[in-house]
Amino acid sequence: MGWIEKAVIYQVYPRSFQDANADGIGDLAGIERRLDHIAQLGAAGLWLSPIYPSPGVDMGYDISDFGEVDPLFGDLHAFDRLVRSAHERDLRVLLDLVPCHTSIEHPWFSERPERYVWAGGDAPPNNWVANFGGSAWTRDAARGRWYLHSYYPEMPDLDWRNPDVVAAMQDVVRFWLDRGVDGFRLDAIQGLMKDPEMRDDPPATRPFGLPLPEEYGRLDHVHSANSPDIGDAVAALRAAAGDATLVGEVYLPAERRGPFLEHLDAAFAFELLHAPWDAEALRAAIAANAGGGAAWVLSNHDFPRVPTRVGAENARAAALLLLTLPGPAFVYQGEELGQRDAPGPGDRYDRHGRDGCRHPVQWEPDARTGGFTDGEPWLAPVDAPERNARDQTGDPGSMLELYRDLIALRAELAGDVELLDATDGVVAFRRGAHAIAVNTRTTSARMPVEGTAFLSTHPGDGDRENLAPHEGRIVG
Ligand code: NOJ
Ligand code: CA
Repeated sequence: MGWIEKAVIYQVYPRSFQDANADGIGDLAGIERRLDHIAQLGAAGLWLSPIYPSPGVDMGYDISDFGEVDPLFGDLHAFDRLVRSAHERDLRVLLDLVPCHTSIEHPWFSERPERYVWAGGDAPPNNWVANFGGSAWTRDAARGRWYLHSYYPEMPDLDWRNPDVVAAMQDVVRFWLDRGVDGFRLDAIQGLMKDPEMRDDPPATRPFGLPLPEEYGRLDHVHSANSPDIGDAVAALRAAAGDATLVGEVYLPAERRGPFLEHLDAAFAFELLHAPWDAEALRAAIAANAGGGAAWVLSNHDFPRVPTRVGAENARAAALLLLTLPGPAFVYQGEELGQRDAPGPGDRYDRHGRDGCRHPVQWEPDARTGGFTDGEPWLAPVDAPERNARDQTGDPGSMLELYRDLIALRAELAGDVELLDATDGVVAFRRGAHAIAVNTRTTSARMPVEGTAFLSTHPGDGDRENLAPHEGRIVG
């Protein structure tokens, strides 16, 4: 596992991080300019959501060239500079590898159609449904055949049963490793391998264990994804990556991530992200992932931010929980400032309604730009005058300083999680010499363990015996 074992990894969503050339869209030069923010937070590395050329139908997850940088973000020289600057600050760089699909504008789709999944006939060959709704099959008018797409129709699925595809993706891995990256976050890899016979998915008769879009959730995806030989595909990625870091986005409940974890350093523990702010649910999410391999995460570019999802009053305790669990923790840009989702319909750019959590990082109090750009931001800052990095720096009560303190203290935490009995509404666990307790409720609650407080999210509000409402505390 190496460096990632205790690491905090900061997720950069390049479009919304920092714009350096005033076109209103974040870019690589902007990321480089803000690296000190990430280093001063105490992160060990950053994960860059896709930076590759893309028509932007899925904001960069629809890739038309795996070996280039989108001109919107810069070029390969800017990329090399960014990696160098990150390494100078001891920050590792993870790229987003999207192995399951390409953009329909990728030259492979016209020149190497055999790299995709096709079916003939007058109707779709089976009942498979796309994650974002509708049939997973679209008819290519020119070829008179159906191609598979697990997401938008503009994102055809690659055929991982074609050895050419495996070899090409291994080349992509090596290309970026040669350029100095330290590893990858692997996008949606539960869908890499499908049933070779393309049988119908049966109706879902048991709860999946994680939230799914309504239509997609009606089926049990035993054939359209999650093929039993998935390990072969993940092993091929590992073979190309050598000992570089691989973190899987495996959208499956913990008990089904085993075959992936055989080859990966970690996989996201989505139970915690989706748990309601309720002690029992949080305990269950922690217990389900205590077996190892969990990359903890509370937010990313796909789901509402923490204050929006579980209430701003719980955001400080949520940060404490995220950053005291063992194993890597991922922090989505802006969470360290307590940023919220934009109100209103979130489908101006993303048809699946995820714009709300993708608004720019708020660096400065300026309401119009938040210091994100000198131009017109592609999405406006949500509330930069109230929440921004400049004002929070050095303010001991700010979310930013809480994150910094928690990340610094985290280095001292050691040992596995041992869940502790606690009164209703409190989730508590021990890690070696330390104990952590979080009060999820609006009333004060008994502190389940004794000890000197190292850190509280609400200093002075509670007392030795009692946690204040919404408080999280580390004692030792
Ligand atoms: C997961 C990514 O996080 C999401 O943003 C994207 O839409 C899908 N995978 C498809 O690549
Ligand atoms: Ca720009």
